[in-house]
Amino acid sequence: MKTILLAGGAGYIGSHTAVELLNAGYDVIIADNYSNSSPEAVRRVEEITGKTVKTYEVDIKDTEKLEKIFQENNIDAVIHFAGLKSVGESIEKPVLYYRNNIDTTLSLLECMEKFNVNNIIFSSSATVYGEENPVPYTEDMKRGTCTNPYGWTKVMMEQILEDTAKANKNLSVVLLRYFNPIGAHESGKIGEDPKGIPNNLMPYVSQVAVGKREKLTVFGRDYDTKDGTCTRDYIHVVDLAKGHVKAVEYIFEHKGTEIFNLGTGTPYSVTEIVETFEKVNSLKVNHVYGGRRQGDLPECFANADKALKVLGWKTEKTLDDMCRDSWRWQKNNPDGYNK
Ligand code: NAD
Ligand code: WQD
Repeated sequence: MKTILLAGGAGYIGSHTAVELLNAGYDVIIADNYSNSSPEAVRRVEEITGKTVKTYEVDIKDTEKLEKIFQENNIDAVIHFAGLKSVGESIEKPVLYYRNNIDTTLSLLECMEKFNVNNIIFSSSATVYGEENPVPYTEDMKRGTCTNPYGWTKVMMEQILEDTAKANKNLSVVLLRYFNPIGAHESGKIGEDPKGIPNNLMPYVSQVAVGKREKLTVFGRDYDTKDGTCTRDYIHVVDLAKGHVKAVEYIFEHKGTEIFNLGTGTPYSVTEIVETFEKVNSLKVNHVYGGRRQGDLPECFANADKALKVLGWKTEKTLDDMCRDSWRWQKNNPDGYNK
């Protein structure tokens, strides 16, 4: 069976992907420095699947240490989740973001070349469509202008990976552009565990519901959308994880660079998220309407046809599932992995 290295695999999306890969019969190795995650997440992946995961505590930028992993294992493909992802923090600390996100990518590519590993799947983002492109986004659109350094790191890393695949004809690159992942594994054992005050909507909503935060501020109610609040393409993290399994199957049959949107194609507004969360979980989420957040686009959603056509992947979970599973995780783990 094939061995997949998950760089940054202890994080939110990586841990859910590890479960789905293990369930599909792949061997999984996780390399993570736990800068935004916990070894407890990996332990729970093992608990859910009944399988063991080899782990390395390593900074992926550290090429020497990374080489050791490639030396010790026969790696067939890499999935590169390792990155810093807070938009606000990236505006305050651009150098940290450019250094971490780009150097992890370069180190992985160097090691892959040295050890003749020719398959890499990259965690990209809908953010690369920037401000110019009209929704719904299709993969053939040009990358746009980002509003923050985090987004630019994704644009730059896509370019680096594409250029490398052009130069090395053996290399296969799959760029997965995620939309807005929310939800958690239905066991309630793994989920999103943001450090400090959450930046993203769903963890904020769940922390208000569990009593850790006083109230949610909905950013802006005067957008030209169905109810005045921004709309996004929220995708259940387990559907997203299954998209990675499809991408792994695909990558071994393919050379060059291929891009896929991983979204549902259906946008929901902030108000719809709050109302659905309240309805399916029979609770109230204290919220107020505030001003717009700088850099927010009114709408963002995918055309998800290509992933269906080429990978045979489509989402199965509903918004109700996303809200129910997010809440189960939060309720069972009010302090995340720090119990
Ligand atoms: P996460 O923070 O939970 O996971 C990222 C993991 O990478 C963490 O475990 C962190 O400790 C690790 N990491 C970071 N820098 C590292 C380094 N130098 N060496 C080793 N490990 C390192 O984030 P996530 O939500 O699971 O996101 C995974 C990837 O998907 C990221 O690249 C992110 O930018 C991208 N992405 C996320 C979203 C989202 O909304 N969650 C959307 C689009 C794209
Ligand atoms: C969703 C909606 C907010 C918090 C970000 C990154 C993007 C991608 C996913 C990685 C927006 C509103 C939020 C709050 C609110 N990440 N909101 N009150 O901004 O769509 O995307 O995460 O690649 O690059 O930009 O996600 O969850 O922050 O916001 O009203 O307290 O919720 O205004 O409309 P976003 P988000």
